[in-house]
Amino acid sequence: MTESKLGIGFVGSGFVTNFHLQAWRGVRGADVVGVYSPNTEHAESTAARARELRVGNARAFKSIEEMIAAPEIDCVWLCGPNHLRVQNMQAICDAVQLGKGKLIGIACEKPLARNVAEARRMVHLVEQSELLHGYLEDQIFAPSVTRGREIMWNRAAALTGRPYLARAAEEHSGPHSPWFWQGELQGGGVLNDMMCHSIEVGRFMLTKPGAPRSSIRPLKVSAQIASLKWSRPEYAEILKQNMGADVDYKTKPAEDFARATINYVDEDNKPLLVEVTTSWSYVGAGLRLTLEVLGPEYSLTMNSLDSGLKLFLSRAVKGAAGEDLVEKQNAEQGLMPVLGNEAAEYGYEAQDRYFVQCFLDGKQPEESFYDGLEITELLMTAYMSAEQERTIQFRPDGLDTYVPLVARGLWKGGASGPTG
Ligand SMILES: NC(=O)c1ccc[n+]([C@@H]2O[C@H](COP(=O)([O-])OP(=O)(O)OC[C@H]3O[C@@H](n4cnc5c(N)ncnc54)[C@H](O)[C@@H]3O)[C@@H](O)[C@H]2O)c1
Repeated sequence: MTESKLGIGFVGSGFVTNFHLQAWRGVRGADVVGVYSPNTEHAESTAARARELRVGNARAFKSIEEMIAAPEIDCVWLCGPNHLRVQNMQAICDAVQLGKGKLIGIACEKPLARNVAEARRMVHLVEQSELLHGYLEDQIFAPSVTRGREIMWNRAAALTGRPYLARAAEEHSGPHSPWFWQGELQGGGVLNDMMCHSIEVGRFMLTKPGAPRSSIRPLKVSAQIASLKWSRPEYAEILKQNMGADVDYKTKPAEDFARATINYVDEDNKPLLVEVTTSWSYVGAGLRLTLEVLGPEYSLTMNSLDSGLKLFLSRAVKGAAGEDLVEKQNAEQGLMPVLGNEAAEYGYEAQDRYFVQCFLDGKQPEESFYDGLEITELLMTAYMSAEQERTIQFRPDGLDTYVPLVARGLWKGGASGPTG
Protein backbone atom coordinates (compact mmCIF):
# COMPACT_ATOMS: atom_id res chain seq x y z
CA MET A 1 0.00 0.00 0.00
CA THR A 2 1.38 3.42 -0.92
CA GLU A 3 1.05 5.98 1.92
CA SER A 4 -2.72 6.28 2.14
CA LYS A 5 -3.85 5.14 -1.26
CA LEU A 6 -5.02 1.67 -2.20
CA GLY A 7 -4.65 0.07 -5.61
CA ILE A 8 -7.83 -1.71 -6.74
CA GLY A 9 -8.06 -4.48 -9.32
CA PHE A 10 -11.34 -5.46 -10.96
CA VAL A 11 -12.18 -9.04 -11.90
CA GLY A 12 -14.77 -8.73 -14.70
CA SER A 13 -15.18 -5.86 -17.09
CA GLY A 14 -18.89 -5.82 -17.84
CA PHE A 15 -21.93 -3.74 -17.05
CA VAL A 16 -21.47 -3.51 -13.29
CA THR A 17 -17.75 -2.68 -13.53
CA ASN A 18 -18.71 0.32 -15.61
CA PHE A 19 -21.01 1.51 -12.81
CA HIS A 20 -18.15 1.11 -10.31
CA LEU A 21 -15.82 3.16 -12.54
CA GLN A 22 -18.34 5.99 -12.71
CA ALA A 23 -18.83 5.75 -8.95
CA TRP A 24 -15.09 5.89 -8.40
CA ARG A 25 -15.05 9.59 -9.31
CA GLY A 26 -16.54 10.12 -5.84
CA VAL A 27 -14.15 7.76 -4.02
CA ARG A 28 -11.06 9.01 -2.17
CA GLY A 29 -8.10 6.96 -1.06
CA ALA A 30 -8.01 4.36 -3.83
CA ASP A 31 -7.26 4.20 -7.54
CA VAL A 32 -8.41 1.63 -10.07
CA VAL A 33 -5.12 0.20 -11.29
CA GLY A 34 -6.01 -3.20 -12.76
CA VAL A 35 -8.67 -5.02 -14.73
CA TYR A 36 -8.85 -8.73 -15.49
CA SER A 37 -11.24 -10.35 -17.94
CA PRO A 38 -10.61 -13.47 -20.05
CA ASN A 39 -11.70 -11.28 -22.92
CA THR A 40 -8.55 -9.17 -23.42
CA GLU A 41 -10.36 -6.58 -25.50
CA HIS A 42 -12.92 -6.02 -22.68
CA ALA A 43 -10.15 -5.73 -20.10
CA GLU A 44 -8.20 -3.27 -22.26
CA SER A 45 -11.21 -1.07 -22.98
CA THR A 46 -12.29 -1.05 -19.31
CA ALA A 47 -8.75 -0.09 -18.25
CA ALA A 48 -8.79 2.66 -20.88
CA ARG A 49 -12.16 3.86 -19.53
CA ALA A 50 -10.69 4.06 -16.01
CA ARG A 51 -7.83 6.18 -17.30
CA GLU A 52 -10.21 8.38 -19.29
CA LEU A 53 -12.35 8.95 -16.18
CA ARG A 54 -9.11 9.64 -14.27
CA VAL A 55 -10.00 7.15 -11.57
CA GLY A 56 -6.63 5.41 -11.89
CA ASN A 57 -3.79 4.51 -14.19
CA ALA A 58 -5.32 1.10 -14.87
CA ARG A 59 -3.79 -1.65 -16.95
CA ALA A 60 -5.26 -4.92 -18.24
CA PHE A 61 -4.02 -8.23 -16.81
CA LYS A 62 -3.98 -11.57 -18.61
CA SER A 63 -4.81 -13.65 -15.55
CA ILE A 64 -6.11 -13.30 -12.01
CA GLU A 65 -2.82 -14.70 -10.69
CA GLU A 66 -0.83 -12.04 -12.55
CA MET A 67 -3.09 -9.29 -11.19
CA ILE A 68 -2.91 -10.50 -7.57
CA ALA A 69 0.89 -10.75 -7.83
CA ALA A 70 1.25 -7.17 -9.12
CA PRO A 71 2.78 -4.89 -6.46
CA GLU A 72 0.26 -2.10 -7.09
CA ILE A 73 -2.81 -4.27 -6.25
CA ASP A 74 -4.06 -4.06 -2.64
CA CYS A 75 -7.73 -5.06 -3.05
CA VAL A 76 -9.99 -6.80 -5.52
CA TRP A 77 -13.55 -5.98 -6.57
CA LEU A 78 -15.01 -9.31 -7.71
CA CYS A 79 -17.42 -8.55 -10.57
CA GLY A 80 -17.44 -11.59 -12.85
CA PRO A 81 -20.54 -13.63 -13.78
CA ASN A 82 -22.22 -15.71 -11.03
CA HIS A 83 -21.20 -19.14 -12.41
CA LEU A 84 -17.53 -18.14 -12.27
CA ARG A 85 -17.66 -16.62 -8.79
CA VAL A 86 -16.21 -19.57 -6.86
CA GLN A 87 -13.64 -20.25 -9.58
CA ASN A 88 -12.52 -16.58 -9.54
CA MET A 89 -12.38 -16.61 -5.74
CA GLN A 90 -10.40 -19.85 -5.72
CA ALA A 91 -7.85 -18.36 -8.15
CA ILE A 92 -7.48 -15.25 -5.95
CA CYS A 93 -7.07 -17.27 -2.75
CA ASP A 94 -4.65 -19.75 -4.34
CA ALA A 95 -2.42 -16.83 -5.40
CA VAL A 96 -2.62 -15.30 -1.90
CA GLN A 97 -1.77 -18.62 -0.26
CA LEU A 98 1.20 -19.05 -2.57
CA GLY A 99 2.46 -15.79 -1.11
CA LYS A 100 1.88 -13.73 -4.27
CA GLY A 101 1.30 -9.99 -3.98
CA LYS A 102 0.01 -8.14 -0.92
CA LEU A 103 -3.77 -8.37 -1.08
CA ILE A 104 -5.60 -7.11 2.01
CA GLY A 105 -9.25 -7.12 1.03
CA ILE A 106 -11.86 -8.35 -1.39
CA ALA A 107 -15.29 -6.95 -2.17
CA CYS A 108 -17.75 -9.24 -3.97
CA GLU A 109 -20.75 -8.30 -6.08
CA LYS A 110 -24.20 -9.64 -5.36
CA PRO A 111 -25.22 -12.43 -5.16
CA LEU A 112 -22.36 -13.89 -3.13
CA ALA A 113 -22.96 -17.19 -4.97
CA ARG A 114 -25.61 -19.25 -6.75
CA ASN A 115 -26.66 -21.36 -3.78
CA VAL A 116 -25.83 -22.01 -0.13
CA ALA A 117 -23.11 -24.59 -0.75
CA GLU A 118 -21.26 -22.16 -3.03
CA ALA A 119 -21.81 -19.25 -0.62
CA ARG A 120 -20.31 -21.35 2.22
CA ARG A 121 -17.36 -22.11 -0.04
CA MET A 122 -16.86 -18.35 -0.60
CA VAL A 123 -16.88 -17.77 3.16
CA HIS A 124 -14.46 -20.65 3.72
CA LEU A 125 -12.03 -19.36 1.09
CA VAL A 126 -12.02 -15.82 2.42
CA GLU A 127 -11.52 -17.00 6.01
CA GLN A 128 -8.70 -19.31 4.98
CA SER A 129 -6.94 -16.47 3.16
CA GLU A 130 -7.42 -14.10 6.12
CA LEU A 131 -8.55 -11.28 3.84
CA LEU A 132 -10.90 -8.48 4.86
CA HIS A 133 -14.16 -8.98 3.01
CA GLY A 134 -17.09 -6.91 1.85
CA TYR A 135 -20.39 -7.82 0.23
CA LEU A 136 -21.36 -5.27 -2.43
CA GLU A 137 -25.04 -4.50 -1.85
CA ASP A 138 -25.23 -1.04 -3.37
CA GLN A 139 -28.85 -0.31 -2.45
CA ILE A 140 -28.22 -0.10 1.29
CA PHE A 141 -25.79 2.70 0.49
CA ALA A 142 -28.19 4.65 -1.77
CA PRO A 143 -28.40 8.20 -0.34
CA SER A 144 -32.23 8.15 -0.30
CA VAL A 145 -32.16 4.86 1.64
CA THR A 146 -29.51 5.83 4.18
CA ARG A 147 -30.88 9.35 4.69
CA GLY A 148 -34.47 8.07 4.93
CA ARG A 149 -33.44 5.43 7.46
CA GLU A 150 -31.51 7.91 9.56
CA ILE A 151 -34.33 10.47 9.79
CA MET A 152 -37.06 7.85 10.21
CA TRP A 153 -35.28 6.16 13.13
CA ASN A 154 -34.02 9.36 14.78
CA ARG A 155 -37.14 11.44 14.52
CA ALA A 156 -40.12 9.10 14.25
CA ALA A 157 -39.12 5.70 15.63
CA ALA A 158 -37.41 7.24 18.66
CA LEU A 159 -40.71 8.84 19.75
CA THR A 160 -43.39 6.47 18.54
CA GLY A 161 -41.80 3.04 18.12
CA ARG A 162 -39.86 1.04 15.58
CA PRO A 163 -40.97 0.46 11.96
CA TYR A 164 -42.69 -2.87 11.45
CA LEU A 165 -43.19 -3.30 7.72
CA ALA A 166 -40.80 -2.77 4.80
CA ARG A 167 -41.80 -3.28 1.17
CA ALA A 168 -39.05 -3.24 -1.42
CA ALA A 169 -39.16 -3.90 -5.14
CA GLU A 170 -36.75 -3.92 -8.05
CA GLU A 171 -38.21 -4.24 -11.50
CA HIS A 172 -37.08 -3.86 -15.09
CA SER A 173 -37.64 -5.44 -18.49
CA GLY A 174 -34.84 -8.02 -18.34
CA PRO A 175 -31.06 -8.31 -18.05
CA HIS A 176 -28.47 -7.41 -20.66
CA SER A 177 -26.28 -10.58 -20.95
CA PRO A 178 -27.36 -14.12 -21.93
CA TRP A 179 -25.93 -15.82 -18.81
CA PHE A 180 -28.38 -13.93 -16.52
CA TRP A 181 -31.29 -15.64 -18.31
CA GLN A 182 -29.84 -19.16 -17.98
CA GLY A 183 -30.89 -20.66 -14.65
CA GLU A 184 -27.95 -23.05 -14.45
CA LEU A 185 -25.39 -20.27 -14.95
CA GLN A 186 -27.02 -17.50 -12.97
CA GLY A 187 -28.38 -19.69 -10.14
CA GLY A 188 -32.07 -18.99 -10.86
CA GLY A 189 -34.19 -16.34 -12.50
CA VAL A 190 -35.17 -12.90 -11.25
CA LEU A 191 -35.56 -14.14 -7.67
CA ASN A 192 -31.86 -14.93 -7.39
CA ASP A 193 -30.75 -12.00 -9.52
CA MET A 194 -32.68 -9.16 -7.88
CA MET A 195 -34.47 -10.27 -4.74
CA CYS A 196 -31.08 -10.29 -3.01
CA HIS A 197 -31.23 -6.47 -3.20
CA SER A 198 -34.79 -6.08 -1.97
CA ILE A 199 -34.42 -8.52 0.94
CA GLU A 200 -31.34 -6.70 2.20
CA VAL A 201 -32.88 -3.24 1.84
CA GLY A 202 -35.98 -4.38 3.76
CA ARG A 203 -33.85 -5.92 6.51
CA PHE A 204 -31.66 -2.79 6.64
CA MET A 205 -34.60 -0.41 7.08
CA LEU A 206 -36.09 -2.46 9.92
CA THR A 207 -32.78 -2.76 11.78
CA LYS A 208 -32.09 0.05 14.24
CA PRO A 209 -29.00 2.02 13.15
CA GLY A 210 -26.05 0.82 15.23
CA ALA A 211 -27.82 -2.37 16.35
CA PRO A 212 -26.30 -5.68 15.21
CA ARG A 213 -27.77 -7.58 12.30
CA SER A 214 -28.90 -10.28 14.76
CA SER A 215 -31.21 -7.76 16.50
CA ILE A 216 -33.92 -8.82 14.07
CA ARG A 217 -34.33 -12.48 13.21
CA PRO A 218 -35.94 -14.15 10.16
CA LEU A 219 -38.45 -16.84 11.16
CA LYS A 220 -40.22 -17.98 8.02
CA VAL A 221 -40.49 -17.33 4.29
CA SER A 222 -43.38 -17.54 1.87
CA ALA A 223 -42.72 -16.96 -1.84
CA GLN A 224 -44.11 -17.29 -5.35
CA ILE A 225 -42.33 -17.42 -8.68
CA ALA A 226 -43.85 -17.14 -12.15
CA SER A 227 -42.96 -16.86 -15.78
CA LEU A 228 -45.42 -14.17 -16.86
CA LYS A 229 -43.94 -12.75 -20.03
CA TRP A 230 -40.78 -14.31 -21.42
CA SER A 231 -42.08 -17.87 -21.92
CA ARG A 232 -44.95 -16.61 -24.10
CA PRO A 233 -44.07 -17.95 -27.57
CA GLU A 234 -43.69 -14.52 -29.19
CA TYR A 235 -41.45 -13.23 -26.37
CA ALA A 236 -39.48 -16.47 -26.10
CA GLU A 237 -38.64 -15.98 -29.78
CA ILE A 238 -37.53 -12.37 -29.24
CA LEU A 239 -35.42 -13.49 -26.29
CA LYS A 240 -33.74 -16.21 -28.34
CA GLN A 241 -33.00 -13.75 -31.13
CA ASN A 242 -31.49 -11.22 -28.71
CA MET A 243 -29.66 -13.61 -26.37
CA GLY A 244 -28.78 -16.60 -28.58
CA ALA A 245 -29.96 -20.18 -29.02
CA ASP A 246 -28.95 -21.24 -25.49
CA VAL A 247 -31.66 -19.01 -24.04
CA ASP A 248 -34.81 -20.93 -24.93
CA TYR A 249 -37.70 -20.03 -22.64
CA LYS A 250 -40.12 -22.31 -24.52
CA THR A 251 -38.27 -25.35 -23.19
CA LYS A 252 -36.21 -24.01 -20.28
CA PRO A 253 -37.74 -20.93 -18.66
CA ALA A 254 -36.60 -19.14 -15.54
CA GLU A 255 -38.98 -17.03 -13.47
CA ASP A 256 -39.41 -13.42 -14.56
CA PHE A 257 -41.51 -12.54 -11.51
CA ALA A 258 -41.03 -13.36 -7.85
CA ARG A 259 -42.45 -12.15 -4.59
CA ALA A 260 -41.75 -13.15 -1.01
CA THR A 261 -42.80 -12.30 2.50
CA ILE A 262 -40.25 -12.79 5.25
CA ASN A 263 -41.46 -12.79 8.84
CA TYR A 264 -38.89 -11.41 11.27
CA VAL A 265 -39.07 -10.77 14.99
CA ASP A 266 -37.35 -8.02 16.95
CA GLU A 267 -35.52 -8.39 20.31
CA ASP A 268 -38.90 -8.45 22.14
CA ASN A 269 -40.28 -11.09 19.77
CA LYS A 270 -42.61 -8.54 18.18
CA PRO A 271 -43.44 -9.33 14.55
CA LEU A 272 -41.84 -7.49 11.64
CA LEU A 273 -42.55 -8.06 7.95
CA VAL A 274 -40.44 -7.65 4.84
CA GLU A 275 -42.37 -7.88 1.56
CA VAL A 276 -40.33 -8.04 -1.62
CA THR A 277 -41.22 -8.09 -5.31
CA THR A 278 -38.90 -8.42 -8.25
CA SER A 279 -39.54 -8.74 -11.94
CA TRP A 280 -38.02 -8.84 -15.39
CA SER A 281 -41.51 -8.41 -16.81
CA TYR A 282 -41.97 -4.75 -15.89
CA VAL A 283 -42.13 -2.24 -18.72
CA GLY A 284 -41.80 1.38 -17.66
CA ALA A 285 -39.28 4.09 -18.45
CA GLY A 286 -36.50 1.84 -17.10
CA LEU A 287 -35.24 0.23 -13.90
CA ARG A 288 -37.61 1.03 -11.03
CA LEU A 289 -36.60 0.70 -7.39
CA THR A 290 -39.36 1.26 -4.89
CA LEU A 291 -39.32 1.21 -1.13
CA GLU A 292 -41.98 1.76 1.48
CA VAL A 293 -41.58 1.54 5.24
CA LEU A 294 -44.41 1.74 7.74
CA GLY A 295 -44.21 2.52 11.45
CA PRO A 296 -46.85 3.35 14.07
CA GLU A 297 -47.04 7.10 13.29
CA TYR A 298 -45.05 7.46 10.06
CA SER A 299 -44.32 6.07 6.64
CA LEU A 300 -41.56 6.49 4.09
CA THR A 301 -41.67 5.99 0.33
CA MET A 302 -39.08 6.08 -2.43
CA ASN A 303 -39.40 5.53 -6.18
CA SER A 304 -36.23 5.86 -8.24
CA LEU A 305 -38.20 6.89 -11.35
CA ASP A 306 -39.73 9.90 -9.53
CA SER A 307 -36.61 11.82 -10.44
CA GLY A 308 -36.37 15.57 -10.13
CA LEU A 309 -35.26 15.78 -13.76
CA LYS A 310 -37.64 14.85 -16.58
CA LEU A 311 -37.02 15.25 -20.28
CA PHE A 312 -39.84 15.52 -22.81
CA LEU A 313 -39.02 14.27 -26.30
CA SER A 314 -41.66 14.79 -28.99
CA ARG A 315 -42.46 12.22 -31.69
CA ALA A 316 -40.14 14.10 -34.02
CA VAL A 317 -37.15 13.06 -31.86
CA LYS A 318 -36.44 9.65 -33.38
CA GLY A 319 -33.12 8.80 -31.75
CA ALA A 320 -31.46 5.40 -31.48
CA ALA A 321 -32.24 3.10 -28.53
CA GLY A 322 -29.91 3.71 -25.59
CA GLU A 323 -29.47 3.75 -21.82
CA ASP A 324 -28.48 7.39 -21.58
CA LEU A 325 -31.51 8.52 -19.52
CA VAL A 326 -31.92 5.64 -17.06
CA GLU A 327 -30.67 2.04 -16.62
CA LYS A 328 -32.66 -0.54 -18.63
CA GLN A 329 -34.38 2.26 -20.53
CA ASN A 330 -37.43 1.18 -22.55
CA ALA A 331 -38.20 4.29 -24.60
CA GLU A 332 -36.57 7.37 -26.12
CA GLN A 333 -39.67 9.53 -26.49
CA GLY A 334 -42.33 11.10 -24.32
CA LEU A 335 -41.86 12.34 -20.78
CA MET A 336 -38.79 10.46 -19.54
CA PRO A 337 -37.21 10.49 -16.08
CA VAL A 338 -33.48 11.16 -15.98
CA LEU A 339 -31.21 10.36 -13.04
CA GLY A 340 -28.51 13.00 -12.64
CA ASN A 341 -25.91 10.54 -11.34
CA GLU A 342 -27.08 6.92 -11.42
CA ALA A 343 -23.91 5.50 -9.89
CA ALA A 344 -24.41 7.75 -6.88
CA GLU A 345 -28.19 7.45 -6.60
CA TYR A 346 -28.23 3.63 -6.73
CA GLY A 347 -25.59 3.60 -3.99
CA TYR A 348 -22.42 2.48 -5.81
CA GLU A 349 -20.50 5.63 -4.90
CA ALA A 350 -21.14 5.58 -1.14
CA GLN A 351 -20.69 1.81 -1.14
CA ASP A 352 -17.29 1.86 -2.83
CA ARG A 353 -16.20 4.77 -0.62
CA TYR A 354 -17.21 2.79 2.49
CA PHE A 355 -15.35 -0.39 1.53
CA VAL A 356 -12.23 1.55 0.51
CA GLN A 357 -12.27 3.34 3.87
CA CYS A 358 -12.60 0.05 5.77
CA PHE A 359 -9.76 -1.53 3.81
CA LEU A 360 -7.57 1.56 4.29
CA ASP A 361 -8.21 1.38 8.03
CA GLY A 362 -7.59 -2.38 8.10
CA LYS A 363 -11.12 -2.81 9.48
CA GLN A 364 -13.54 -5.62 8.66
CA PRO A 365 -16.56 -4.04 6.83
CA GLU A 366 -19.95 -4.46 8.48
CA GLU A 367 -21.53 -5.73 5.25
CA SER A 368 -19.51 -8.87 4.65
CA PHE A 369 -19.50 -12.33 3.08
CA TYR A 370 -21.44 -13.53 6.16
CA ASP A 371 -24.30 -11.25 5.15
CA GLY A 372 -24.06 -12.46 1.55
CA LEU A 373 -24.38 -16.01 2.91
CA GLU A 374 -27.47 -15.22 4.99
CA ILE A 375 -29.11 -13.50 2.01
CA THR A 376 -28.40 -16.59 -0.13
CA GLU A 377 -30.00 -18.75 2.58
CA LEU A 378 -33.13 -16.59 2.50
CA LEU A 379 -33.25 -16.66 -1.31
CA MET A 380 -32.97 -20.46 -1.37
CA THR A 381 -35.66 -20.76 1.31
CA ALA A 382 -37.87 -18.58 -0.92
CA TYR A 383 -37.30 -20.97 -3.86
CA MET A 384 -38.16 -23.91 -1.58
CA SER A 385 -41.37 -22.17 -0.55
CA ALA A 386 -42.35 -21.52 -4.16
CA GLU A 387 -41.58 -25.10 -5.21
CA GLN A 388 -43.35 -26.70 -2.24
CA GLU A 389 -46.21 -24.17 -2.31
CA ARG A 390 -46.05 -23.59 1.44
CA THR A 391 -44.53 -21.31 4.02
CA ILE A 392 -41.11 -22.56 5.14
CA GLN A 393 -39.57 -22.10 8.59
CA PHE A 394 -36.10 -20.58 8.42
CA ARG A 395 -33.56 -22.39 8.28
CA PRO A 396 -35.08 -25.50 6.73
CA ASP A 397 -33.44 -28.93 6.67
CA GLY A 398 -31.51 -29.58 3.48
CA LEU A 399 -30.78 -25.91 2.82
CA ASP A 400 -27.02 -26.43 2.57
CA THR A 401 -27.28 -28.76 -0.40
CA TYR A 402 -30.43 -27.38 -2.00
CA VAL A 403 -30.36 -26.18 -5.62
CA PRO A 404 -33.62 -24.78 -7.05
CA LEU A 405 -35.32 -26.52 -9.98
CA VAL A 406 -34.79 -23.34 -12.04
CA ALA A 407 -31.04 -23.59 -11.46
CA ARG A 408 -31.07 -27.23 -12.57
CA GLY A 409 -32.95 -26.45 -15.79
CA LEU A 410 -35.92 -28.48 -14.54
CA TRP A 411 -38.51 -25.83 -13.81
CA LYS A 412 -41.56 -26.08 -16.03
CA GLY A 413 -42.63 -22.42 -15.92
CA GLY A 414 -46.12 -21.19 -15.15
CA ALA A 415 -46.58 -20.01 -11.58
CA SER A 416 -45.80 -21.74 -8.31
CA GLY A 417 -46.01 -20.82 -4.68
CA PRO A 418 -48.37 -20.85 -1.71
CA THR A 419 -51.72 -19.22 -2.41
CA GLY A 420 -54.18 -17.66 -0.02
N1 LIG B 1 -25.14 -4.27 -7.80
C1 LIG B 1 -25.91 -4.34 -8.86
O1 LIG B 1 -26.95 -3.74 -8.92
C2 LIG B 1 -25.47 -5.21 -9.99
C3 LIG B 1 -25.85 -4.86 -11.30
C4 LIG B 1 -25.43 -5.68 -12.34
C5 LIG B 1 -24.67 -6.82 -12.08
N2 LIG B 1 -24.33 -7.12 -10.79
C6 LIG B 1 -23.53 -8.35 -10.51
O2 LIG B 1 -22.22 -8.14 -11.01
C7 LIG B 1 -21.71 -9.32 -11.60
C8 LIG B 1 -21.33 -9.04 -13.05
O3 LIG B 1 -22.47 -8.60 -13.76
P1 LIG B 1 -22.37 -7.72 -15.11
O4 LIG B 1 -23.70 -7.10 -15.30
O5 LIG B 1 -21.17 -6.88 -15.08
O6 LIG B 1 -22.18 -8.89 -16.17
P2 LIG B 1 -21.74 -8.74 -17.68
O7 LIG B 1 -22.26 -9.92 -18.39
O8 LIG B 1 -22.06 -7.37 -18.20
O9 LIG B 1 -20.15 -8.80 -17.58
C9 LIG B 1 -19.49 -9.92 -17.09
C10 LIG B 1 -18.01 -9.72 -17.26
O10 LIG B 1 -17.33 -10.85 -16.73
C11 LIG B 1 -16.29 -11.21 -17.63
N3 LIG B 1 -15.95 -12.62 -17.51
C12 LIG B 1 -16.26 -13.65 -18.31
N4 LIG B 1 -15.66 -14.78 -17.88
C13 LIG B 1 -14.97 -14.45 -16.78
C14 LIG B 1 -14.13 -15.17 -15.92
N5 LIG B 1 -13.84 -16.46 -16.09
N6 LIG B 1 -13.57 -14.50 -14.90
C15 LIG B 1 -13.80 -13.21 -14.70
N7 LIG B 1 -14.56 -12.47 -15.50
C16 LIG B 1 -15.15 -13.09 -16.54
C17 LIG B 1 -16.84 -10.86 -19.00
O11 LIG B 1 -15.79 -10.65 -19.92
C18 LIG B 1 -17.59 -9.57 -18.70
O12 LIG B 1 -16.69 -8.50 -18.78
C19 LIG B 1 -22.81 -10.38 -11.45
O13 LIG B 1 -22.55 -11.17 -10.34
C20 LIG B 1 -24.07 -9.56 -11.22
O14 LIG B 1 -25.03 -10.24 -10.43
C21 LIG B 1 -24.69 -6.33 -9.76
